Amino acid sequence: MSASVTKERPIEQVDESLAAFAADVHADLQKQPRQLQPKYFYDALGSHLFESICHLPWYLITRAERRLLEEHAADMLAPLEDLTTIIELGCGSGAKLALLAEGVRKRARPVLVRLIDISATALDLSERTLGRLPHVSVVGRHEATYDAGLREATQPRPSHGSTLVLFLGSNLGNLRPEVADAFLREVRSALRPGDGFLLGADLVKPEKDLLLAYGDPLGVTAAFNMNLLDRINRELGGDFDLGGFEHQPRWNADASRVESHLVSKRAQTVSVRDADVSVDFAEGESIWTESSYKYTPDNVAEIGAAAGFRRERQWIEPESQFSLTLFVAE
Ligand code: AVJ
Repeated sequence: MSASVTKERPIEQVDESLAAFAADVHADLQKQPRQLQPKYFYDALGSHLFESICHLPWYLITRAERRLLEEHAADMLAPLEDLTTIIELGCGSGAKLALLAEGVRKRARPVLVRLIDISATALDLSERTLGRLPHVSVVGRHEATYDAGLREATQPRPSHGSTLVLFLGSNLGNLRPEVADAFLREVRSALRPGDGFLLGADLVKPEKDLLLAYGDPLGVTAAFNMNLLDRINRELGGDFDLGGFEHQPRWNADASRVESHLVSKRAQTVSVRDADVSVDFAEGESIWTESSYKYTPDNVAEIGAAAGFRRERQWIEPESQFSLTLFVAE
């Protein structure tokens, strides 16, 4: 592992991200409808709860994507000439990159990897997974949001060879269409013609399957969602009574998204000391914590094209209706 990979977070960075968290909670809880942002799910416990979600029999995305990566890794990398660098946005456990990297096993030089994730736990897991592989060398660890991480990871650009950016697991699904569009353009502008972009997107499917995926009978997704309130209690001095809220997934067909909500079971007042906010909830009023947008294969191709990519190839896992699309920058 290179010397540029550091694990310690300076104390100022902790303070800065806590201040940003407080500012977002302050603003978002006062919106109508009330909201919180899904990027804050991923503290250490939240990251582990998400890994557990990936094992649930009702949440098919992770396994579908794995199958596609296992089966087609070589085809996914073949169109990229002299691939030297892979950048993953939201690397999670690192397991997906490990599968894809099977496609470069036979090369003389290891492929250079830069990992971007908002969760220190995810970066730790990924480094552990990828550190063992001889054909991969982790040269960057960016504990950052997608935008900031992408900027860090692409400057300076490697002097030769092509780069592949991975945005897998339907991470795209959290972004509103305008934001998704703008973000894909940013990815494109960080790349050079001939570079690759592999995008995972979950597809529209029957409502009952979606509601089970986001409202599993074991309650793991409920715990994942509710942990955000507990995180606010722990880190920002909030006084959320977790028993006073209930997890509720909703399919919004018009917007083509699953919404995750935390619904107040009764009228109650909640204060968050360090976010300097106090909110009166009516019975049945919800906090909207996440959107998981569902795409059609053509939608995916269109947003890539609008951002300046050519669709090289698309793979669809038929049982779970999940897609991986390989784009090449034009
Ligand atoms: C990590 C954003 C892809 O939206 O499917 C899983 C997060 N939320 N179950 C998704 C999530 C509830 C997940 N992403």
